Amino acid sequence: MGFRAHILGAAAGGGLPQWNCGCENCRLARAGAIPAQSQSSLAVTGNGNDWAVLNASPDIRHQLTECAALHPTGLREVPLTSVLVTNGDIDHVAGLLTLREMQSFTLFATAGIHDVLAQNPIFAALNDKVVTRRTVGLGAPFRLAPGLWAELFPVPGKVPLYLEGETVETDLVGEQTVGVHLTGGGGSAFYIPGCAMLNDDLRARLHAAPLVFFDGTLWHDDEMVRAGLGDKTGKRMGHISMSGPDGSIAGFAGLKVGKKVFVHMNNTNPVLNPSSPERAEAEAAGWIIGQDGMEIAS
Ligand code: MLT
Ligand code: MN
Ligand code: ZN
Repeated sequence: MGFRAHILGAAAGGGLPQWNCGCENCRLARAGAIPAQSQSSLAVTGNGNDWAVLNASPDIRHQLTECAALHPTGLREVPLTSVLVTNGDIDHVAGLLTLREMQSFTLFATAGIHDVLAQNPIFAALNDKVVTRRTVGLGAPFRLAPGLWAELFPVPGKVPLYLEGETVETDLVGEQTVGVHLTGGGGSAFYIPGCAMLNDDLRARLHAAPLVFFDGTLWHDDEMVRAGLGDKTGKRMGHISMSGPDGSIAGFAGLKVGKKVFVHMNNTNPVLNPSSPERAEAEAAGWIIGQDGMEIAS
């Protein structure tokens, strides 16, 4: 049974602490009083040897150093077969630039996400002599790495922040934001780091799943506004909140999911403090709060 999922980074864009943030969590993390978390990424293997990285965060250099399973096995050999990105957000694609050292791997994404990357000439740094870009359609299973299969499905979301126009639809369903269903090595998991709402399609898909990694950006929809850190709500950012009647904790309550793990948590989210009442509430509802380096077998 070779399936393993390793959280490279459990935080949302900015990480914990975020360089310019003086919120309570960021101050506590800087002081070493709560664990720091790096930005959104998950490594997965189906056979225990060959790995895929899902989302390439700006912290990927440090994340790969910290994860022994992904260390080089030869002069220029790494057990990393492929990278898959689930949207074009900076926290999920900026790390591609770090992977540019003439290393061969396959870069998987939908046509919509590949288009976003192609519009940014800096990504040509991933030399096409060694990096193969593969376009994957929604609902079409493919081999992500030896012994590991994946299927992409649409998740309500929005275009990347840097492509937002005058008006922004925050619950677009298409190729811009996707979730991943992974199978192989006797295991299976869903990875959904960004999701604006839990619609009927998602509920049906996730019902009775053994393992789900899910968008845990905010606790309250208006938590960043309340903290005086900006005027954006979670809804405006395309992220469902954990709490409240429309939140993910309530939404998952009847889904009979085996292991539910929050990832992509913003530094303002109180669950990042292990002694907070919100952390206790999420855990009482059966959630695991993801953290850097956490590994789950299936
Ligand atoms: C998000 O998850 O909403 C984005 O990563 C925000 C960003 O691009 O900073
Ligand atoms: Mn993000
Ligand atoms: Zn902060």
